[in-house]
Amino acid sequence: MTKKTLKIIHDLKKKKQGITSLTSYDASFAKLADQCGVDILLIGDSLGEVIKGDKNTHSVTMNEMIYHTKNVASGSNHAYLIADLPKHSFDNNKIALMNSKKLIGKSMADMVKIETSIQEINIIKFLVNNKIPVCGHIGIRPQSIKSKKYYKKVGTNIKEYNNLIKEALLVQEAGAGLIIVECIAEEVAQKITSLLSIPVIGIGSGNKCDGQIRVIYDIFGLSFNGTPGFLKKTQKKINILENVISKYINNTKKYK
Ligand code: KIV
Repeated sequence: MTKKTLKIIHDLKKKKQGITSLTSYDASFAKLADQCGVDILLIGDSLGEVIKGDKNTHSVTMNEMIYHTKNVASGSNHAYLIADLPKHSFDNNKIALMNSKKLIGKSMADMVKIETSIQEINIIKFLVNNKIPVCGHIGIRPQSIKSKKYYKKVGTNIKEYNNLIKEALLVQEAGAGLIIVECIAEEVAQKITSLLSIPVIGIGSGNKCDGQIRVIYDIFGLSFNGTPGFLKKTQKKINILENVISKYINNTKKYK
């Protein structure tokens, strides 16, 4: 297996081969997903919830992102690596560039992901002009939401539908190499996927996107703040992990 490049990921869209992406925060899970052949690993600021046990992603710092990005880079050889710019790490162009440079490079990530509002899309342009590969993120942007209980599908009315399409086109025009669409209506996700030449990766946005991204703890049914609604029907708690822990506890107790 060779190291995945952005060109390889773009070719997957052209060939209509689903793009796979999982979040990752440490070397061991990165190695596992990498060996399974996942295309992209995202060092997501969802680590605020699943690693730190917070109710949202807001407290995640640049130092934490750097630490987890290094760990994932150590554990993986093949997947394309994307690291999140956490809340307040891109308050202006200069800060965004300085922080992106900390996450990108040898033994670090290949691309940064940024949750810009429509008014902040010029930051993407600035980063791309400064040779930083960027992934956009539209729809639900967890950095602007207090907790999962405020998640609500976006794009279910005509105004939101049109705004999302406009925003996706602007993100592409600004030079983003990929875009994540979180918790948007399937019809608008499908439309964006057909309009954009860059790959569209969905989460909670139906199955018509070029690829899908999942928080790794969600697919194991392990996430600290519960499994998201769109996975609940298909995702059963994986008891194998509980069984392994229980077996270890029982065995240890047995010999005392
Ligand atoms: O931080 C994260 O894990 C993310 C995914 C939910 C796309 O942004």
